[in-house]
Amino acid sequence: MPHLLSARDDAFPALMLRAEQVHHALQNHTFAPSPVFAGRTIALLFYEPSTRTRVAFESAAHHLGLHPITINAQSSSIVKGESIRDTVQTLCSEGISALVIRHPREGAPETAARYSTVPVLNAGDGSNEHPTQALTDRLTLQLAWGDLKGRKIAIVGDILHSRVARSNIWSLTQAGVEVWLCAPPTLLPPSFAGVKTTSCLSEALEGADAVMTLRMQNERMEGGLLPGLGAYARDYQINANNLRYANPDCLILHPGPINRGVEIDDETANSAQSLILKQVQHGLAARITALEFALNGV
Ligand code: NCD
Repeated sequence: MPHLLSARDDAFPALMLRAEQVHHALQNHTFAPSPVFAGRTIALLFYEPSTRTRVAFESAAHHLGLHPITINAQSSSIVKGESIRDTVQTLCSEGISALVIRHPREGAPETAARYSTVPVLNAGDGSNEHPTQALTDRLTLQLAWGDLKGRKIAIVGDILHSRVARSNIWSLTQAGVEVWLCAPPTLLPPSFAGVKTTSCLSEALEGADAVMTLRMQNERMEGGLLPGLGAYARDYQINANNLRYANPDCLILHPGPINRGVEIDDETANSAQSLILKQVQHGLAARITALEFALNGV
């Protein structure tokens, strides 16, 4: 079954190609969904808060002629103690055609896929993966640059707890990007193959073509990992002063939500080099592509 659980899935390169086509079709108002989707129902099962990902999946479903039903864990039988297995089996019996799931526990989408009779899409599981965000981010960079090969991209922030970082590491290294991870030592995971790690921001930014900055994931942090947000901002904030190490036309990315004044300052977030709102915009093409794949294959 065509589940999309990880940016390492074999289908990812084909999804990238399709996402670019979908983007251009949306831009030209020529996007035409396959008639086989019309009237089918999909479930968006969110055990964690979400704005961008949820809205993009809901909008993508509407663009495809699907009927999305969003289930927030707080307002469902989950608060009565229902297991993932029972929730998934219940939704499948309700006649859904695909299941999008976001969950605070790593591996929850795999668990859902085990009990699901329909394709499962991972909309973010704990600190593990967020494949449709990686699709969104690579699409954004491809639209800006064309080929990504040989570019240097620094991912800066709470790498340890970031599913966005993890999925982007797979996706960007596969595209031939030189990926650097930068964080205070307590927020840097053990090294990934083919990726450079440093706790020195100027080293990560030296000659960078793009920087992807990440929020501190306070909800996933055990005490004592950070001396404080002020200290983090002093040493790691992306601002004009630190960007002098990077290429002059260095692009700025952030998956959101932004904590302005912590990981990035206002001026940089709002600058002409910032692609932050483009990422949000491109999230639609990415989720249309992911849903098409799950329902139809690519
Ligand atoms: C992120 C997420 O939820 O993983 N946001 C997103 O989906 N665009 C990042 C975050 O929570 O910091």
